[in-house]
Amino acid sequence: MNAARRALISGNWKMNNGGASGVQLASDVARAMASFSSIDIVVAPPFTALVPVVAALKGTRVEVAAQNMHPKDKGAFTGEISPSMLLEAGCKWVILGHSERRAMFGDTDATVAEKTKVAMDVGLRPIVCVGETLEERERGDTLNIVKRQLNAFASIIADKPGWAAVAYEPVWAIGTGKNAGPEEAQEVHAMIRARLADISADLAAKTRILYGGSLSPKNADALLRCPDVDGGLIGGAALKAEDFSKVGEIAQSIS
Ligand code: 13P
Repeated sequence: MNAARRALISGNWKMNNGGASGVQLASDVARAMASFSSIDIVVAPPFTALVPVVAALKGTRVEVAAQNMHPKDKGAFTGEISPSMLLEAGCKWVILGHSERRAMFGDTDATVAEKTKVAMDVGLRPIVCVGETLEERERGDTLNIVKRQLNAFASIIADKPGWAAVAYEPVWAIGTGKNAGPEEAQEVHAMIRARLADISADLAAKTRILYGGSLSPKNADALLRCPDVDGGLIGGAALKAEDFSKVGEIAQSIS
């Protein structure tokens, strides 16, 4: 972390805690993290829990993200949710281009760029995900792949430096219990920041670059101490208020 940027600790609940259990988890998170005033906190419940979770978090420091959105505002798109619906539900953030959506639901560099542009335009704060697969890492392609994914949206987020965050989530580390080591993460985060610096120094200085992939209370200290790691996007450990808040406590203690 770097004192110039506030840490952002975010939890991606994926397809878990859609109803009453989501409200409970959000309330537990807000209570456990109420005193962590040096960090920003975001939770991303499934669509069905957005409205009740926003209500439960009213007056707390915790903000709400959606996990995806459709780029169009309305129309014949059965099963989809629009940016204005997310704003109306009370979301401030939206996760875009998660590797699970790229792998299973057809998100591409082009659609991620399109969604990022729309999110920036309507005032939602995107957390845009990048990351290589194990095969890509093993053939030495990590930096090329991440750079290609980043290039698709980097100039779009330059419109408002610091508004969007980038999440580096190596696919092989997601849900596997195998996190990237601090040197591995720092190498990619530094490349991302250098690429943002090619566009503007302000963009590089203000953009928070989050690490995601088996981030937990056990490895958070080492990862969050990397100079270009500005927080986390947490999956499994975000489903337990105790674990999620412990990562927040570590971020708070480093900042
Ligand atoms: P895990 O923390 O469960 O590995 O998930 C990371 C992730 O995909 C967050 O978006």
